[in-house]
Amino acid sequence: MDYILQMKGVSKVFPGVRALDDVHFNIPRGKVMALLGENGAGKSTLMKILSGVYERTQGEILLNGNAVEFKNPREAQEHKIAIIHQELNLLPELSIGENIFIGREPVNMFGKINWKELHSESRKLLEELDFKEDSKMKVGDLSIGKKQMVEIAKALSLDAEIIIMDEPTDALTDNETLTLFSVINKLRESGKSIVYISHRLNEIFQICDYVTVLRDGQFIDECLVSDIDEDKLIELMVGRKLTEQYPRLKVDLGEEVLKVENLTNKFIKDVSFSVRKGEILGVAGLMGAGRTELAKSIYGAIALDSGLIYIDGNQVSIKSSHDAINKGISYVSEDRKKDGLVLSMDVKKNMSLSALEKFSNAIGFIDMKSETKEAEDYVEKISIKTPSLKQKIKNLSGGNQQKVSISKSLMTAPKVLILDEPTRGVDVGAKKEIYDLMNTFKEEGMSIIMISSEIPEILGLSDRIMVVHEGSISGILENDNVTQEDIMRLAVGVRGAN
Ligand SMILES: Nc1ncnc2c1ncn2[C@@H]1O[C@H](COP(=O)(O)OP(=O)(O)OP(=O)(O)O)[C@@H](O)[C@H]1O
Ligand SMILES: [Mg+2]
Repeated sequence: MDYILQMKGVSKVFPGVRALDDVHFNIPRGKVMALLGENGAGKSTLMKILSGVYERTQGEILLNGNAVEFKNPREAQEHKIAIIHQELNLLPELSIGENIFIGREPVNMFGKINWKELHSESRKLLEELDFKEDSKMKVGDLSIGKKQMVEIAKALSLDAEIIIMDEPTDALTDNETLTLFSVINKLRESGKSIVYISHRLNEIFQICDYVTVLRDGQFIDECLVSDIDEDKLIELMVGRKLTEQYPRLKVDLGEEVLKVENLTNKFIKDVSFSVRKGEILGVAGLMGAGRTELAKSIYGAIALDSGLIYIDGNQVSIKSSHDAINKGISYVSEDRKKDGLVLSMDVKKNMSLSALEKFSNAIGFIDMKSETKEAEDYVEKISIKTPSLKQKIKNLSGGNQQKVSISKSLMTAPKVLILDEPTRGVDVGAKKEIYDLMNTFKEEGMSIIMISSEIPEILGLSDRIMVVHEGSISGILENDNVTQEDIMRLAVGVRGAN
């Protein structure tokens, strides 16, 4: 086998955590190698060592058979290794073009930045990705999917021989994903080597040649994708067989808890629906359809121009997320880095952030004992992998950050829980844990609104399915014999499918 790069016996120890333990990892030349494992298995850490972000504790890296040493990301780049990080690394105040060429801006003969060239080069890269926005646009104004595409353009601009993609499709639309796959195919044809990390197993079978599995920081197996099936892969990752993925639970639905009428603002038009006690309402739609904006409009994060919100039959006024929490509505954001979590704070503080009132007595003292106790309960209940409650959020793996984000909302003891892409970036095992948890809440009578781009998840868990198209509701379906096609038809705006 012709390997362009080999990592041998690599270990990495963080305070209190052995993230990698004697790991072997090979990258075959001109092929796509998948790197799989549960949340916290060590995938991102291994790739950060390869790209010069982290120093390893032990082990060696051979590039074309020669030992190499990267002390920082720049040195890795000089060896033609590029990485697209899981947590995006863009500067929101700068334009798309500036972000792509940051630190490597083309200059003219006077040493000044050649803006014309910078933007025309950017445009070329963006075109390859079918990306329609102007390269002068500010990155902060882009959706996360589009930001991801900018990261990809940046990696392509380095003309790297090895390109590492850490969950690149996490926030992409189906079309963007297909575009990315055709880019990957082109790269492979031109002899580039790619490392592909994803929790979406179907993608592994679509785009990867080989797969390496890690579990708990250890190397488990390397094999040809054509020699393996999905069940076997899951078994390698999780260490056991998984039972049915979508445990649909039927409970007797209670009273209407939340009702909204004719909600309207810049993003949504005349939206009316209701949710009952113990109900899971799945919200489907294309990316950009306005699902997140709808959620935020109910949650008080986006102002309404008109419309009414009722909780338990009483009309309520919600002008801020604080109001929403007080009225029993909680929202788990799809973008945990931007408006879910405070990355520099520890696990416990992040969890209790929205629920501090609950833990405070009449004169504002925080009952730290019950705060700690409840945080410990959640770590246990949804298996959050962290050495302690004092660990900073930024040191947790992506999927575990998502679990903290959910715990944070749960701590406010909501009547209505709005989950926006709850399993994005979450591994197969933990997905099942989140689904089971949702069912527990359902049994306890909580109402859940689940926004998801994964149709199987919507079909597998919802009592009813609401489809949003361009800011309005294009249909609400009882979840009986509903098919993917029914949902897709409504999602693209064909009304009356049912
Ligand atoms: N900077 C850090 N300081 C301390 N611990 C860390 C740091 N970075 C990662 N870890 C820990 O190392 C382990 C491996 O994390 P890593 O991010 O590599 O997982 P992952 O496989 O990429 O998971 P995910 O699928 O959730 O992204 C985890 O237990 C994580 O908490
Ligand atoms: Mg990761």
